[in-house]
Amino acid sequence: MRTQVGIVGAGPAGLLLSHLLHLDGIDSVLIESRSRQEIEATIRAGVLEHGTVELLKKTGVGSRMQREGFVHEGVYLRFGGRTHRIDFKALTGGRAIMVYAQHEVIKDLVAARLAAGGKILFEVKDAAVYDLDTPAPKVRFHHGGKVEELECDFIAGCDGFHGITRPSIPSRMRHEFTRVYPFGWFGILVEAPPSTDELIYAAHERGFALVSTRSPQIQRLYLQCDPDDEVKNWPEHRIWEELHARLESADGWKLAEGRIFQKSVIAMRSFVLEPMRYGRLFLAGDAAHIVPPTGAKGLNLAAADVRVLSQALVSFYKNQKEQLLKDYSATALRRVWRAEHFSWWMTSMLHRFHDETPFHHRLQLAELDYVVASRAKAQTLAENYVGLPLD
Ligand code: PHB
Repeated sequence: MRTQVGIVGAGPAGLLLSHLLHLDGIDSVLIESRSRQEIEATIRAGVLEHGTVELLKKTGVGSRMQREGFVHEGVYLRFGGRTHRIDFKALTGGRAIMVYAQHEVIKDLVAARLAAGGKILFEVKDAAVYDLDTPAPKVRFHHGGKVEELECDFIAGCDGFHGITRPSIPSRMRHEFTRVYPFGWFGILVEAPPSTDELIYAAHERGFALVSTRSPQIQRLYLQCDPDDEVKNWPEHRIWEELHARLESADGWKLAEGRIFQKSVIAMRSFVLEPMRYGRLFLAGDAAHIVPPTGAKGLNLAAADVRVLSQALVSFYKNQKEQLLKDYSATALRRVWRAEHFSWWMTSMLHRFHDETPFHHRLQLAELDYVVASRAKAQTLAENYVGLPLD
């Protein structure tokens, strides 16, 4: 088998890359270890930045999102029993975000690729990449009981944090930056009507809580928990007790309860790989970097990476220019580090740290107070949350 760009991993990064390349006449083959059903059902993030929304719309995969997603023009910060609104629209010159689940984006992209005759191989096993520092890098894997070899001009590693592409880079060529947080998120999906018209980020003595949504019937809620907590430690009454306590407010706001039908614990880490390239292997999305979910940046960074990468590949094939490919890592990393900082800042401001001193806690409260009191500081939050321009 031969293709121009071999893509490892059919998450948002890999699927969107394959879609963008196709629009410019560049051939790719996508391989994925999971089944189509699995990737279309995995519950992940839900917030799309302004630029991600525009990119999906402009490239013809935004129509269901526009029908079924929810435009939010702000978020609420809740602390000290009071609720404060950060008005994105007013603070960013009219920008907003879209609440639309990642697995819905995946479904739309898979449908678009398959309708266009795109090649996606699901349930591929034992994938390995090699000859990365030659002009003919290869992917070898098992598929349908056979060993296959895919010869490429370039390979895109879009296989997530636990994928095989990043560890294929010699360790002396990898500079990795990591921060692991001393807490996780306990996430649930609930059959209930919305409790709020916009997301609520709550900082409370008992820990952080977040109210998000998925549809008029399904809500997404999160609670700060121990990093190695387990679902079995969270019987329903404890979940509701904590949510009510952490989200209580002086204005009579009520949390709507309902049947909990999904529970999971989410790890919190910051991670960056530099550079995001080795030879003819280019990494994108979670394969190259992780952000804690507090800034809702993960999926959006993946989309920004593959936009830069697809433009660089188009320039290579159409104009025989390698400069943009050479610049890929530095260009992508600039945005990545901005999002790393924002996600770390939101996480640090809103969570309780078990080792924090009373001094540190007072600083957190002063920071929160400043964010809601100062237009300049609120604007910093807003412009990062809706996403900095893609160009
Ligand atoms: C979600 O809806 O899953 C969500 C929203 C905002 C975040 C993280 C997750 O910061």
